[in-house]
Amino acid sequence: MNSGPLRFGIIGSGFQADIHASSLRMIPDAADVAAVASPTPGHAAEIAGRYSIPAVYSSYREMLRDASIGIVTITAPNRLHHQMTLDIARAGKHVVCEKPMAMTIEECEEMIDVCRRSGVLLMYAEELFFTPKYVKAKEMAGQGAFGRIHLVKQTEKHFGPHAPWFWDVEQSGGGVFMDMGCHGIAFCHWFLGRSPIQSVYCQMDRQVHGAKGLGEDESICILEFENGARGLVENSWARRGGMDDRVEVYGEGGVTFANLHMGNALPTYSEAGYGYAVEKAPTTQGWSWPVFEELWNYGFPQEMRHFARAARGLEMLDATGEDGLAVMEALYAGYASAGQGRKITLPFRPAGIRRPIELWHNPTS
Ligand SMILES: NC(=O)c1ccc[n+]([C@@H]2O[C@H](COP(=O)([O-])OP(=O)(O)OC[C@H]3O[C@@H](n4cnc5c(N)ncnc54)[C@H](O)[C@@H]3O)[C@@H](O)[C@H]2O)c1
Repeated sequence: MNSGPLRFGIIGSGFQADIHASSLRMIPDAADVAAVASPTPGHAAEIAGRYSIPAVYSSYREMLRDASIGIVTITAPNRLHHQMTLDIARAGKHVVCEKPMAMTIEECEEMIDVCRRSGVLLMYAEELFFTPKYVKAKEMAGQGAFGRIHLVKQTEKHFGPHAPWFWDVEQSGGGVFMDMGCHGIAFCHWFLGRSPIQSVYCQMDRQVHGAKGLGEDESICILEFENGARGLVENSWARRGGMDDRVEVYGEGGVTFANLHMGNALPTYSEAGYGYAVEKAPTTQGWSWPVFEELWNYGFPQEMRHFARAARGLEMLDATGEDGLAVMEALYAGYASAGQGRKITLPFRPAGIRRPIELWHNPTS
């Protein structure tokens, strides 16, 4: 059937599963959520109740037997993305894989290969490609507003993730650079028309959360692109005050600045506090910057609509497994750069890596 809403299955029932379910419910003309699968059935049932999802599975493999489901989103920890993608593709369903795409370059390559051979799309869920403010900046760049662009900056910072597995590098593959640097790398690459990345220089550290695990909680990364532009990607899990997400674009003929949260908020002071300000903000008392239409401002419903339409063949997919692979190669180079204290040129594909952070912890690898 090639018309009507596409039926989605969601794997996972945590933070990002809720965002997928909520975003899909905002686009009923394009998408319908058929089922959610998670080994924590209580959480899955909660999400199913909240978004009127008819079926709950404790095993995602069971969900894959539902022939009415045409596409499955993966919102499980990074370590599981690879195997889940292979299973979904082999069940003949399109795949939406959350970032970062997997744990290794080899896994990313196999995911792309298996999806291609199975005749399904591998969609890399990088919502910054759909964030309205950032899309506007790219449109203006395309219209020549900034002339030749020589620097793009992307920053994402907060005070650390909500779930313990992010701190366990066996499950996450790395710290904040892996978790949020992947957004900034993808953004700069996309913004610069996917000019190939030529080199990566990175510094990182555990500044605040050293006791929680082996992952870095702060990173600064400089990317050099073939077209002569540079990207500067700053990330932190050590930044107080809730989520901060920004972009700056510098060209010979102009500049633009996009502050996703504080720039789209109501500067607010409250003695008593109130319900909710922004992702990961610890308090609403005192000064705060409450966002509105948070998911739309991020671009999640727009991203899901694009994926549903791409699966139907109505749009050319613009967030692909190849994007996820390019990011993974830059992540490897960034960790190796921080480990070796020098710029790493691409291609950079050391063999035998199990998780990118090894290249920082063990610089000889
Ligand atoms: N695009 C974004 O901005 C964004 C934001 C947050 C998280 N993410 C990504 O989404 C993924 C999930 O992150 P999260 O914040 O939702 O984590 P989370 O801990 O809140 O949720 C993870 C979920 O995975 C489920 N899970 C674990 N093992 C499973 C299995 N074998 N089968 C099915 N489900 C399983 C858990 O039960 C849980 O519901 C990560 O890859 C993360 O990087 C992306």
